[in-house]
Formats: sequence, structure tokens, C-alpha cells
Amino acid sequence: MPTTDMRASVDAVSPRAASVDASISLGDEDFSFISAFVFERCGIVLGANKRQLVYGRLLRRLRELGLSSFAEYCQRLRSQPEDELDPLASAISTNVTSFFRENHHFDYLAQEVLPALAGAANPRIRIWSAGCSSGEEPYSIAMVMAEALGNRAQSISRVLATDLSLRALSVAQQGMYPLDRLQGVSEQRRKRWFLSGRGGNDGQVMVAQSVRDLITFKQLNLLHDWPIKGPLDAIFCRNVVIYFDNPTKQRLFARYAQLLAPGGFLFLGHSESLHGMSDAFDLVGRTIYRKRV
Ligand SMILES: C[S@@+](CC[C@H](N)C(=O)[O-])C[C@H]1O[C@@H](n2cnc3c(N)ncnc32)[C@H](O)[C@@H]1O
Repeated sequence: MPTTDMRASVDAVSPRAASVDASISLGDEDFSFISAFVFERCGIVLGANKRQLVYGRLLRRLRELGLSSFAEYCQRLRSQPEDELDPLASAISTNVTSFFRENHHFDYLAQEVLPALAGAANPRIRIWSAGCSSGEEPYSIAMVMAEALGNRAQSISRVLATDLSLRALSVAQQGMYPLDRLQGVSEQRRKRWFLSGRGGNDGQVMVAQSVRDLITFKQLNLLHDWPIKGPLDAIFCRNVVIYFDNPTKQRLFARYAQLLAPGGFLFLGHSESLHGMSDAFDLVGRTIYRKRV
């Protein structure tokens, strides 16, 4: 089998890349096996252009496990696929996120979505943050809910927040962030929804309990079954499908359409679109879609 030496330029790939290890290389066969594993289990497509990224990110994992080659790592994937899935997915996928990222979505939620839902007879508002990473997205949704619904929020609304990565979810569940993560958050919201850490937690902020109480975090692979009871009013699936191939996206969007109530909303990331992927939705705003009634 021909091999390609990946040792030369890995440091330039990503800040998360491990430093060059002259003794370990990622050959064609191992790269193909890892890409096929990641695609089958997570839906993430790793083309040849992602090879350096895979090398850099997994080198660190090899070291953690005390392995000296990618062949040994592939052997581990074969023998313990379930145990290794989460560390692999956490290493490969990008968990980049922030509070109130693509803020126009939160304005739309506050101004268009929540008032209409709250005005219904017997309101019951359910929103899913699918691919929630370290939690900034569902916390932003819950803050907007608490602002829009006031003291009714607790009794009529909930956010379900899911991700494949247990590592990201454990940060999310803690709800504690370094102060500099609040860059996109207004002064008013900082004061209202965050508590400053003291003592050992100096320089950290904690999301207010009233916001945390609105959210349930769960691990969920979007490619697998979803133990979710619909209908849902809105799904935020932002900056997740960017890694999926078209058939995977089409299946996912069809499942979202089934789970949403008629008139329910789907929020995608700024570089994502339903164009050619689903005809169950109308575009109603910038990367905001509404299920046809
Ligand atoms: C870039 S983050 C997006 C976070 C947030 N939605 C946002 O836009 O800020 C992408 C997230 O998708 C998750 N993800 C990737 N593939 C997944 C899958 N098959 N099932 C569930 N989550 C997945 C990753 O673990 C990662 O946390």
C-alpha cells in the first residue's frame, strides 16, 4: 500500500493540531479506514483535503492512549468502536460556537417566534438545539425565552440540547465559562443572566440557574434514532450539517420536517441552506426556514 507522509506541515493546519512527531505517519490505508469510520458513525465527510487535520488532531489521541502508530489506532477502532467513537468524534469535529452567534436568529426568535407561540391557547413551547456543542447556543435560546416569556417561561417552555460529543456536553452541562466567552453578549444580558465566579472560579462566569432550568442536555447522534417526542416548535441546527454529504443532509431535513409542528421553524448556520435539499420548508429570513402548513 502506498503511504503519504503527513509529517511536514501539520502545525499549520489548526491551533488544535499536535506538534510534528517524526516517528508517526498516517498512511493511505489508515486514513481511508478512519474516514470511512467517521462517515459511517457520525455522517462527517473527511475528504483527502482533511488528511492533515485528521493527522494533527488524532496524534494527540494516540499519545493519550500510548499508541505508536495509526495502524494500532485503527486496530483499537475495530476492536472497541463504541468506546472510541466519542474521543474520535470530539477530536475530529469542530466545536466552535459562541453566545448569540448569528444574532439575527435570536432577534427573530424573540420578535416573531415566541410572541406568536406564547399567545396560543395552552402554550407549550419546545425548541431543540441539535449540535449544541459546549452549550452557548441553547443558553442563548433559553435567555431569549426567559426575556420574552418572563415568569411563564418555566411553566410553558423547554429547550432540548443535544450533541454527539460528550466532552462538549460536559462543558455545556456545567454552564461555566471564562469571562472572555461573553464577547457577543450585551452588558444588560451579562448582568441579568450571568454570575461572576469567586475564589477558585475567579475569571469565570456561571449561567443563572433560572436559565439552566429551562434546558435538558443529552447525548444524541443525529444519524441514529431520536428519542424525542414532537411536535417541536423550532430546531436550531446551525453549523452542523456543513460536514455532512448531501444524502445525509436530505435524510436529516426530512426527519426535522416530520418532527416539527406545521409552521415550525428551522434555523441553519450562515453558510448552510435547504436549497435542493427539502421542499417541506419556505425561506422566511436569513437561513431561517418555516415548515409548510
Ligand atoms: C461547530 S459546532 C456548532 C455549535 C452550534 N450549533 C453553533 O452553531 O454555534 C458543530 C457541532 O456538531 C456536532 N456534531 C457533528 N456531527 C454530529 C452528529 N452526527 N450528531 C450530533 N452532533 C454532531 C459536533 O460535535 C459539534 O459540537
